[in-house]
Amino acid sequence: MKIGVLGSGIMGNGIAQVSATYGNEVVLVDLTEEALTKAREAMVKSLEKLSKKDNTVQMSEIINRVSFTTDKQQLKNADIVIEAIIENIEAKREVFKELDSLCEEHTILASNTSSLTISDMVAVTNRSDRVCGLHFFNPVPLMNLVEITCTENTSSETLQTVEKFVAELQKESILVRDTPLFVVNRLLVPMICEAISLVDEGTASVADIDKGMKLGANHPIGPLWLADMIGLDTLLNIQEALYIKTNDSKYRVPELLRTMVAAGELGRKSGKGFYNYS
Ligand SMILES: NC(=O)c1ccc[n+]([C@@H]2O[C@H](COP(=O)([O-])OP(=O)(O)OC[C@H]3O[C@@H](n4cnc5c(N)ncnc54)[C@H](O)[C@@H]3O)[C@@H](O)[C@H]2O)c1
Repeated sequence: MKIGVLGSGIMGNGIAQVSATYGNEVVLVDLTEEALTKAREAMVKSLEKLSKKDNTVQMSEIINRVSFTTDKQQLKNADIVIEAIIENIEAKREVFKELDSLCEEHTILASNTSSLTISDMVAVTNRSDRVCGLHFFNPVPLMNLVEITCTENTSSETLQTVEKFVAELQKESILVRDTPLFVVNRLLVPMICEAISLVDEGTASVADIDKGMKLGANHPIGPLWLADMIGLDTLLNIQEALYIKTNDSKYRVPELLRTMVAAGELGRKSGKGFYNYS
C-alpha cells in the first residue's frame, strides 16, 4: 500500500519506519526540511539499533521506501494518510480539511491523536465513512498495540482495511469507541495522577509508591518513573483534556503536577521530575 504520514516527530517517524519495514511505500511529510533531516537521522539510528538485535532488518531497503518531503501533494493517491502532527485541535482540523480536498476518493484519513476525539476532525471532511483513529504507542517500533477508533460513520470497509494494515505491521489492535483517551490512556493517565496525589498528600515516598506498584501490582515500572518518561507537561495536557471533556471531578489535575510543570520539572527530558537525571 501507499501510506502517507503527516508530521515527522517522535510518532510520525516511528509510524513511517514501521510501515516501510513491512513493505509499504511511505510518504513522510513535515513543514520544514530541518524537521525531515532530523527525522531521517532518527530513523537511521533506530534501524541501526534494531539491526544489531535482528540481522534480517534490511536498513537501506526500508529507508529507500520512505520519501521525506514538505510537499503534501505527494499524499494525493495514498491508500491511508495517518496524521501525527502536534496535539492541537485547530491545527488538526486544518490539516484534515486540506487532506480531504487533496486526496483521492479512496484515501482513508486517520489520526494518531492521544487526547482528542476523532469526531472533532471528521466534522471538517466530506468522507466521514473513511475517517478513523489509529493510535500507535511510543516507541512505535517496539510497542505492539494500536487502538483503532471508529466513529458512528466509519464504514466496515474502512475498518477492515485498517485492521489488515495494522496486522501486516505485526501489531495487535483493539477496537475502541470514539471516547476521550480511548482505553489505555483512560486507565493509565488517571492512575499516574493518583500516584502524584499520593506524593502530594505525603502518603509514601516516590520510591516506595513505585516499589509498591512494581511488587504489588506486577507493573514493570512504577507510575512515577513512567510519568518522568512520558513527560509531565504531556501528562498535564492529557489529564486536563479528560477533565474538560468529562467534567468529572475524579479527573482533576493534581496541584503538584501543575507546580512541577510550571517550575520546568518535566521529567527525563528536562533532567528533573520525580527523579533526578543529571
Ligand atoms: N509522544 C507520544 O508518546 C505519543 C503517543 C501516542 C500518540 N501521540 C500523538 O501523536 C501526535 C504527534 O505527537 P509527537 O509526540 O510525535 O509530536 P512531535 O512534536 O514530536 O511531532 C510533531 C511534528 O508535526 C510537525 N507538524 C506540525 N504541524 C504540521 C503540519 N501542519 N503539517 C505537517 N507537519 C506538521 C512538527 O513540525 C513536528 O515535527 C500527537 O497527536 C500526539 O498526541 C503521541
